[in-house]
Amino acid sequence: MESVAQNIIPSKSATGIEPVIEILHLQKAFGSNVVLRDFNLSIYPGENIVVMGKSGIGKTILIKCIIGLVKPDGGTMRVFGQDISKLDHRELDELRMRIGFVFQSSALYDSMTVRQNLEFPLRRHRRKKISGNIEDLVREALKNVGLENAIDLMPSELSGGMRKRIGIARSLILNPEIVLYDEPTTGLDPITSEEITRLIMELQQKYKTTSIIITHDVDLAKETANRIVFLSDGIAYLQGAYDELIKKDDPLIKQFFKK
Ligand SMILES: Nc1ncnc2c1ncn2[C@@H]1O[C@H](COP(=O)(O)OP(=O)(O)O)[C@@H](O)[C@H]1O
Ligand SMILES: [Mg+2]
Repeated sequence: MESVAQNIIPSKSATGIEPVIEILHLQKAFGSNVVLRDFNLSIYPGENIVVMGKSGIGKTILIKCIIGLVKPDGGTMRVFGQDISKLDHRELDELRMRIGFVFQSSALYDSMTVRQNLEFPLRRHRRKKISGNIEDLVREALKNVGLENAIDLMPSELSGGMRKRIGIARSLILNPEIVLYDEPTTGLDPITSEEITRLIMELQQKYKTTSIIITHDVDLAKETANRIVFLSDGIAYLQGAYDELIKKDDPLIKQFFKK
C-alpha cells in the first residue's frame, strides 16, 4: 500500500506566489461530531480545486468557513491574505463580494423573477462600484449561461438545469475572484450534468477565477480540476491531479473513481 494520509501543511508555492485561500489547522466540531480535525490547504491564483469526500464528511462546512458563514473552532483561514476571524462585519461583507457561492439548492428566491434574482446581489452591494447599468449586467449574466430568454420567468418555471444556470449567473454577476460551487451537478441527469460541467469550464476560462468545486461527479472533477483534494476523517487526506490520483492504490480513491 503506497497510501499514506498526506495532510500537507501548505506554504508559499515554489514560485513565491501567495495563496488566494490559505487554510491552516482548521477545526470544526458540532458537539461530539468532529467534522474538521486538522484541515490544511492552500489554493493559488487561477487554480481549480475539486473537493471530494463522502456525504456528511464536512465539504459544505469547509466552504462555509471560507466565506465566514460558519465560525471554525480553531485554526486559521486566510482569504486574499486576510485572516477572516479578524474581520468586522463590514470587512466580511466586502470580502464576500469578491466570492461567488453557487449553493447546492441554487437558492433562488421563488417569489422573484429571474431578473429580480440576478438584480439582488447588485442592489445589495450598491456600495461596490458597479460598472455598467443593472439591466446590461443582468442581460450579460444571462447570456453567459445561455438563458437570455428566461429573464421574465419565475424559478418555478425553470428546469433543474436552468435553475443551476441561473444560480451560477447570479454568483458571477459581481465579477468575483473566487467561485465556490457546492455539488453543481448533483441531482441532474447525465446530459444536463455534462452541460453544466462545460459551462463551468467556459466561465473559468473566460473570467480566470480561482475556484473550489465540491462534487461526487468524477467526470466533473476530471474535466475541471487542477487538483483534487479528498476530505476524509477531518483532514485533507490525499490530493493531486486526477491522473496521479487514479494510479494510487488507495481504497477511498478507488471507491470514488470506480465507474
Ligand atoms: N448546523 C449544524 N449543526 C450541527 N451539525 C451540523 C451542522 N451543519 C452540518 N453539521 C454536520 O456536520 C457534518 C458535515 O456536514 P456537511 O459539511 O454538510 O457535509 P457534506 O460533506 O455532505 O457537505 C455532518 O455530520 C452534519 O450533520
Ligand atoms: Mg454538502
